[in-house]
Amino acid sequence: MSTVHEFKPRILGFLCNWCSYAGADLCGVSRYQYPASMKIIRVMCSGRVDLEFVLRAFAKGNDGVFIGGCWLGECHYITEGNYDALSMMHLGKKLLESAGLNPDRLRLEWVSASQGIRYAEVVTDFTEKLKVLGPIGTGEGMDENTLKLKLEAITKLLPYVKLVEREKIRVHFENKAEYEEYFASDQLKSLFNELIADKLAVSQIMSLLQAKALSTGEIASGLGMSAAEVTKHLKSSARQRLIRFDDNQKRYALA
Ligand code: FES
Repeated sequence: MSTVHEFKPRILGFLCNWCSYAGADLCGVSRYQYPASMKIIRVMCSGRVDLEFVLRAFAKGNDGVFIGGCWLGECHYITEGNYDALSMMHLGKKLLESAGLNPDRLRLEWVSASQGIRYAEVVTDFTEKLKVLGPIGTGEGMDENTLKLKLEAITKLLPYVKLVEREKIRVHFENKAEYEEYFASDQLKSLFNELIADKLAVSQIMSLLQAKALSTGEIASGLGMSAAEVTKHLKSSARQRLIRFDDNQKRYALA
C-alpha cells in the first residue's frame, strides 16, 4: 500500500510586538488549536517589514509569508507603520504576480492582543490556502532554478521599486478596502506596467543570460513569457546596449 504524504506548507510570519505577537501568545496560552506551519519573527511594527525580508523568506523555501499588525488606527507609533505595511503588501503581491508567482502567498492581517482566537483562525486559513497552492515554485509550474532566478530578479530591482513607490505610488487611505480598490485600479495597473513591469521582465532576462547565451525561444520557455514579449524586451535592451546578438551562436548574450 502506498503512502501519500500531505503537503505541509512552510510559513514565515512577521508579527508586530504590540498586537499580533501578543495575540499569538494569548492563542498559545488559551490552547487554541492551529497548525504548526508558521515560524515567527517578532518585529516592533508591521511597518518594519521590508519587501526584501519577504523575498528572502521565499528564497529560503517558505511557501507563504504572513504579516500581522495592529488594526488601522491602533499602531503604537505616530508614523502609523501599518499603513506602510498595507501598501508594501499590495506592491509585493503585484511584483510576485508579475514574475509568475501566486500573490496569495503573501498575506497581511490585523490581529489585536486580545484576539487569540482570530490568530488561530487566520493561521489555519492561510495554511489551508497554501496547501491548495502547493509548494512555492512547483505550485506555479516552475523548477527550482527558475524560481531562484525570478526572486533574484525582483530583489535586484527593489531599490528602484522603492523609489517608484515613494515618488509615484504611495497613497494614504483610511481603510483596507480603499487600498484594495486603488491597487486593483486601472490607474495603478498602468503606472505599474509603465514603471515597473517592463523593468522586471528585463531584469529576469538579464539574470537568465548571465549563465549563457540564449535564443528568443529559449528565454521565453525559461521564463514562462510569450515569444512576442521576450522579443520586445530584447529589442529595447539591445538598443540600450544591455545585451547583444551573437551572430556566431545566433543567440542573445549580455553586452
Ligand atoms: Fe503594531 Fe505598528 S505597532 S502595526
